[in-house]
Amino acid sequence: MEEANRLKKLPLYLFTIIDDLKDKAQQNGIDIIDLGMGNPDRPTPKHIVDELCKKVRIPENHRYSRSIDKSEKSLRNAIAKWYDTKFGVKLDPESEVLPLIGSKEGIAHLALAFLNNDDIALVPNPAYPVHFNGVLIAGGILHNIPIYEKDGYLPNMRSIPKEIIKKSRLLFLSYPHNPTAAVANIEFFKDVVEWAKGKNIIIGHDLAYSDMVFDNYKAPSILQVKGAKEMCIEFHTCSKSYNMAGWRMGFAVGNSKILKTLAKIKSYIDFSMFKPIQYASIKALLGSQSCVKENVKEYRKRRDVIVDGLRKIGWNVPRPHATFYLWARIPDKYSALTSMEFVALLIRETGVVVAPGTGFGEYGEGYVRFALVEKAEKLKEAVQKIKKLLEMDA
Ligand SMILES: Cc1ncc(COP(=O)(O)O)c(C=O)c1O
Repeated sequence: MEEANRLKKLPLYLFTIIDDLKDKAQQNGIDIIDLGMGNPDRPTPKHIVDELCKKVRIPENHRYSRSIDKSEKSLRNAIAKWYDTKFGVKLDPESEVLPLIGSKEGIAHLALAFLNNDDIALVPNPAYPVHFNGVLIAGGILHNIPIYEKDGYLPNMRSIPKEIIKKSRLLFLSYPHNPTAAVANIEFFKDVVEWAKGKNIIIGHDLAYSDMVFDNYKAPSILQVKGAKEMCIEFHTCSKSYNMAGWRMGFAVGNSKILKTLAKIKSYIDFSMFKPIQYASIKALLGSQSCVKENVKEYRKRRDVIVDGLRKIGWNVPRPHATFYLWARIPDKYSALTSMEFVALLIRETGVVVAPGTGFGEYGEGYVRFALVEKAEKLKEAVQKIKKLLEMDA
């Protein structure tokens, strides 16, 4: 059974290889500390779970869910209110808000909805993989914009050749950034919106980590920029802010025409999310936000434990101002290895699992990503195990 060519173009799914390496290490009696996937370990707050349980007992909520239903209308209103409170951005709940079954599907469907075969999508590299894989699945042409440590991992839009820009229909951005944990300020977004004017390029800004911020940094919305609604939509998710990764609750907001087309393609493929999840998400967005603060406090603690710990054992890593990731250059001693080889060595010798930089694109080579999805004590343990590897003869 031959798979379609569009699937053959996709890079191998990184976590399948890592799962194999983990299995082998476990068979050799090694304990695993898994910091590979950005899969939040903390539970969804009780008031959100309670609302789901209440609403799941109502038979009416078991039916197909449609965008015209009361539950989705209330959810759209809640999202608009949340955006206004958080960013001071006014949205029309009817036309400028679109609930998604997790933001990942929305990002992939945006490419499918707008790219024809010769159309180019501009994607900073490294990136969260669906930003480029969605383009390949849609049959579009991917143009990587390399982003570098020396530039704070921000793309230089002026470096893109004119012929490429002419054929470009889509640009993905995402700050705070996965995997590098880089952040952007409003000046950067102003600059990009100015650059995009008159170019007929849609900007999809993925703001999954807006709440996971430290050291007084505040993540801006691109929609705070005057004129941004002309070409921008922004993706958001309850996965990280409210520890609801398994629930599949995301949303897109911004330009109404873009959202209408995104809704159109989705209408041929899926239904709206399960109604009890919609009601529980309203509770998440409009209820007490102290759970978000708790989350941030915990992740800040984890960040400091891992950064201080690694620096102490001679691995000089940066201290990120956002996300629950740490993006670290492979230690000098192992710099001759590829990021995948280094990760394989780390798993085999220590049981600590991190993600290789190349899992996020070719410009991730030379780096690895730690996801801080274990408690501080476990992170300290991981540091001690890594210490042994760094002390071994290479
Ligand atoms: C940048 C980024 N966008 C989107 C997602 C996916 O979010 P969701 O759970 O809403 O699909 C992730 C998940 O790790 C992410 O890192």
